[in-house]
Amino acid sequence: MAMVLEQLPKPAELDDDVFAGENLQNPYPFYEKLRDAGPVVKFKKWDSYALARHKELKQALTDWESFTSSAGVGLGNIKKGETWRSPSALVEVDFNFNSVGPQNERFWKSKERADKVMDRFLSVFERKNLIPGGFGEKLYQVEDEGQVGEGVANSVLRSILRGGMDTTMSAIGSCLKLFADNPDQWEIFKSDPTKWAVPAFEETIRLETPIQSYYRTTTKRMEFSGVTLDSDVKVQMIVASGNRDPRAWSNPEKFDITRKNYEQIAFGAGIHTCIGQMIARLETEAVLKVLGRKVKKLEAVGPAPHRTINTLRTLDRLPMRAILN
Ligand code: HEM
Repeated sequence: MAMVLEQLPKPAELDDDVFAGENLQNPYPFYEKLRDAGPVVKFKKWDSYALARHKELKQALTDWESFTSSAGVGLGNIKKGETWRSPSALVEVDFNFNSVGPQNERFWKSKERADKVMDRFLSVFERKNLIPGGFGEKLYQVEDEGQVGEGVANSVLRSILRGGMDTTMSAIGSCLKLFADNPDQWEIFKSDPTKWAVPAFEETIRLETPIQSYYRTTTKRMEFSGVTLDSDVKVQMIVASGNRDPRAWSNPEKFDITRKNYEQIAFGAGIHTCIGQMIARLETEAVLKVLGRKVKKLEAVGPAPHRTINTLRTLDRLPMRAILN
């Protein structure tokens, strides 16, 4: 077996910085370059690997024994103490979207801003501040009963809030922008908002995947899609790229709410797939259905730039006009 592994090619090595501002602002041409470079690529700058094709992403995400989350879903390896705070019990590093990537200048600037409100933010998850009888308090009851260890309720609540807020906001913003830019799709949606709200959401997160990427760590030296991968290396799952891979989708750049979207991987795949996805669907559906009933036309009335964040794709602002029925 060792002989065979030795004979396989190594992943293509690239000098590019996946976290450079221009690649975050306009990621799609860059992702195309990554997909074309091979099934696995290596970023020399971060000493990490990446998958950008749909087939390989699905394969790795559903093979948790070879690609583990237990060393954190960020670039830093939590088993080696390479994180900025204690990991949550649920997602090993929760989704603070500038912290999933490298500790670059962007990370330190956002940490500086976050530090000012961190005490207040963390107090939200303390038991005394939760709604009596609510979901959060029930988690503490589970802890009281000894079903989970001490501290788990608090950190799980943190993961749920972090995982569920900016992601869904990003999806709703992108969806409205895509509708404003594609009035033909708005017409289809308007023909039956109850039928098309969820398909429009799925198509939005395929095309503008809120969490663009996160990491796994290899648990062994292995052959993967024809190349060798070493043990204990970080592999970036660029799901946003897989969602636009022409090997998996026809006309991938087109916003088409009638598309069959079962294979989109914006919620991940396998055992760590998003636990909040039904809530995200419900929230978006609620917003879209009201708009579908009341609004004839959505019009963009100014530029809608994206924020430059290491792993989250979200609009900074979305000036628009809604013309009522
Ligand atoms: C459009 C909205 C959302 C997107 C795109 C999204 C995306 C994701 C992705 C990609 C993962 C898997 C990460 C991995 O494999 O390591 C994940 C996990 C998770 N999500 Fe979401 N999410 C969304 C909404 C939500 C909501 C509304 C909640 C909570 C109410 C939530 C809570 C979580 C949690 C707690 C995990 C960790 C699950 C685990 O590691 O077992 N997410 N999400």
